[in-house]
Amino acid sequence: MRRKLVIGNWKMNGSRAANTILLAGIKAGLGDARADTAVCVPAPYLAQCQAELTGSAIAWGSQDVSAHASGAYTGEISAAMLLDFASKFAIVGHSERRSYHQESSALVAQKALAGVNAGLVPVVCVGETLQEREAGKTADVVGEQLDAVLEVLSAEQLAKIVLAYEPVWAIGTGKTATPEMAQEVHALLRARVAKKDAAAAAGMQILYGGSMKPENAKELLAQPDIDGGLIGGAALKAADFLAIIAAA
Ligand code: G3H
Repeated sequence: MRRKLVIGNWKMNGSRAANTILLAGIKAGLGDARADTAVCVPAPYLAQCQAELTGSAIAWGSQDVSAHASGAYTGEISAAMLLDFASKFAIVGHSERRSYHQESSALVAQKALAGVNAGLVPVVCVGETLQEREAGKTADVVGEQLDAVLEVLSAEQLAKIVLAYEPVWAIGTGKTATPEMAQEVHALLRARVAKKDAAAAAGMQILYGGSMKPENAKELLAQPDIDGGLIGGAALKAADFLAIIAAA
């Protein structure tokens, strides 16, 4: 039985003052939520998460990690640095990084490898654009993105990652994949992992992301292969984020 996992991806939002209010609101409302919960925040706020979330049931993490361990890589942040602030998760391959920063599937796989080797849990994102979906290429596109990771990670390493299906056309647009559409892709991703390692596939948490909100979370999270959510906009309001966690 896979545990449900709900991760808030704050993207480039927040301030010290606003974060304190948001984190306090989430902590206060969490109760005995059954789902595991985390926030992935801009790197400068990891220390704040460590200070304000230690001892709570909420984990924290980053929105990216370098494929390199250290050295002359201006602007990059290594897995070891993230671990210095007790980060648990590192999102890799979010579509915003793939498209605005030209990150290839091969680079995303190296980032996942660096993260898992250091002891972080990489949250590897895959997803198709609207054009790709309309051209009937969804399975090929997400398959290629996943295959890059399957090529690089051993079965043992695969068992330590989280996967997220985020259709690009559903991110921040208010358009959500129907539960059936999302389930179909989640099932094919799991089947693809199973070809490499059945046990890793059976245990892998596959999250859905893309305009998940309190109104649609329950139905999406009820699908057999949807193990949680990667939440953008709705993670910036404690009440909405808590409602999604409660639906999980
Ligand atoms: O990582 C989160 C996703 O990009 C979803 O963002 O919930 O604002 O659509 P959204």
